[in-house]
Amino acid sequence: MADQTTAVGTPLRRLDGPLKVTGTAPYAYEHPVDRPVYVHPLQASIARGRVSDFDAGDASALDGVLAVLTHRDAPGLADTSDAELAILQSDQVAFRGQFVGAVIAESPEIARHAAGLVRVQYEAQPHDVELRADRADLYKPEVVNPVFATDSDQGDVNAALRTAAVTVDQTYTTPMEHNNPMEPHGTVALWNSEASPTLTMFDSTQGAHTVRSTMASILGLDPAEIRVVAPYVGGGFGAKGMPHAHNVLAAMAARMTPGRPVKIALTRQQMFSLVGHRTPTIQRVRLGANADGRLTATVHDVVEHTSRIKEFAEQTAVATRMMYACPNRRTSHRLAALDVPVPTWMRAPGEAPGSFATEVAMDELAVACDLDPIELRVRNDPEVDPESGKPWSGRHLVDCLAEGSRRFGWEQGGSSGREGEWWVGTGVASSTYPNYAIPGSEAEIEYRGGGVYVVRIGAADIGTGTWTALTQIAADVLECPVDYVALEIGDTDLPMASVEGGSSGISAWGSTIVAAARKFRDSHGTDPAVGARTRGRMPKNPDLEKFAIHSFGAQFAEVRVHADTGEIRVPRMLGVFSTGRIINPRTARSQFIGGMVWGLSMALHEHSYLDAATGHVVNHDLAGYHVATHADVADVEATWLDEYDSHANPMGSRGIGEIGIVGGAAAIANAASRATGIRVRDLPITPDAFLR
Ligand code: MOS
Repeated sequence: MADQTTAVGTPLRRLDGPLKVTGTAPYAYEHPVDRPVYVHPLQASIARGRVSDFDAGDASALDGVLAVLTHRDAPGLADTSDAELAILQSDQVAFRGQFVGAVIAESPEIARHAAGLVRVQYEAQPHDVELRADRADLYKPEVVNPVFATDSDQGDVNAALRTAAVTVDQTYTTPMEHNNPMEPHGTVALWNSEASPTLTMFDSTQGAHTVRSTMASILGLDPAEIRVVAPYVGGGFGAKGMPHAHNVLAAMAARMTPGRPVKIALTRQQMFSLVGHRTPTIQRVRLGANADGRLTATVHDVVEHTSRIKEFAEQTAVATRMMYACPNRRTSHRLAALDVPVPTWMRAPGEAPGSFATEVAMDELAVACDLDPIELRVRNDPEVDPESGKPWSGRHLVDCLAEGSRRFGWEQGGSSGREGEWWVGTGVASSTYPNYAIPGSEAEIEYRGGGVYVVRIGAADIGTGTWTALTQIAADVLECPVDYVALEIGDTDLPMASVEGGSSGISAWGSTIVAAARKFRDSHGTDPAVGARTRGRMPKNPDLEKFAIHSFGAQFAEVRVHADTGEIRVPRMLGVFSTGRIINPRTARSQFIGGMVWGLSMALHEHSYLDAATGHVVNHDLAGYHVATHADVADVEATWLDEYDSHANPMGSRGIGEIGIVGGAAAIANAASRATGIRVRDLPITPDAFLR
């Protein structure tokens, strides 16, 4: 990379900023098309059973209605193996809110009105949506997301717990939660069987190529017959990591209305049953330690749910395997398959709910050992990865804790006290996130002349700063100013890019661009001909096998609890992260702070109320499902260690999208405990917890 002035590391403003604040960045649904038609889905109002009859007479008679679609007349799908996506292929209902039909009409208003006129009759069967740890039907999935072992065992935890000087044995719970990106899921689909591509989709997705390959198999098309375009995406948080039922519905409707593009935008309420959620968790954590706080036993047993028709097993206990040194360790995941919508990735799946349980348990152990919670973590910091035995590419948790302690003004043991009507306390928790390297991306570099290089890769920017960060990476390796990089992303006409998932985007796409640009220079030199062009692939990184590559962080929180009302405020949060080299401090800070706000939101607010009687999430909108807003968030500060991870990728960076949420809820719970003396083990933490 260029040694004089590097673009990487500078706080370049978002290149997509002006387009977004002027409202001219085209999001999926608003992509202009000629003579669109609109789809509004019909959703099941039972949680299990079958559709026995439809009466669509009133709907079909309405002016402007083009078709009412049900399982009786919906086109067949080439691949129905994914039951979430195999829509309208049978009369079966597997969860409340599932598609049972749709109306295609000339306007969204007519479609929605007509959908309300269709009378659907059901034969309901008893449903079951209640997660309990004592269910007899809990099962062991083959792997947990994405491919981790379900259980792990090392040593003899029972013997170690029997002989431990100090033990903690508690159960922690986290609720069902919903991703709620600001931009609802939306798709525009155009079908043209006489042209290429046959199907064009403007979609709101974390991976254009993922949507293309999935849709190709479902529709029985060659991937080359489908083009997916997604240059700007208003948040995903995992819910846009793979296509959902509405994508299939849009394509189906488009096929039925040749020449007319189809638009579908899910409402906020529809999103609560159709685009994924996070499972509730019940986590029993048992810790055993010597009197000096050194762990001798760690047990983390997790119970969670999945849908009956499609498995998603959140990897809640996986980080427990690498987090602390401990000779005897057991982790397990058991699932209940319920009549619930299909869960999916949500903001640090695994680490986010898992770290709440384990990092509160560590705080309880610190109290039991009469040790400072930072010192407890320092004493249990492992030399090598406890699970694999591999050396760390760089484990700097202790440095994060020390730096955070200094900046936050941490008092030994955490502070507690009373200021007027408020109990005040401070808390700390560790954070971690693994380095995922998804292979398969390709990039193309072309010299346009006048010093300008076009860089093409089908990557996604879901609001994270990809446009900006990839431009900086390309500028450095091409040794040109950022203004001379013309980046093109978010389109399957561009070279294949892996999905934005597991905070892997910049690592994967950046490595690929570096490889392509180096190859370009090797082939065309520093004075290339106009039109000179090279393609490169993401290189294999042998260090991934040799090192345990993880990011770390320390989260600090101050919490105030009102002595009379139990009202909880978080006046201050600080996160110190170790994530390798920072590509862009401005966008990185936004990522960290955004994650920490999610941690606060998880700690205090987020809770999808799944009504057992109806199988319905009753608070299915942003009025009932509270996501932290400005009034909830005070001083949230994020900083990081100056670092370069030479093993992770050629940029020296690791992913930063998700680590900000990890440990945040635990830090707040731990601070609330210091403030009030009341230990809360169930999220979200609400005022009633302090009014017992
Ligand atoms: Mo992220 S929750 O892995 O899309």
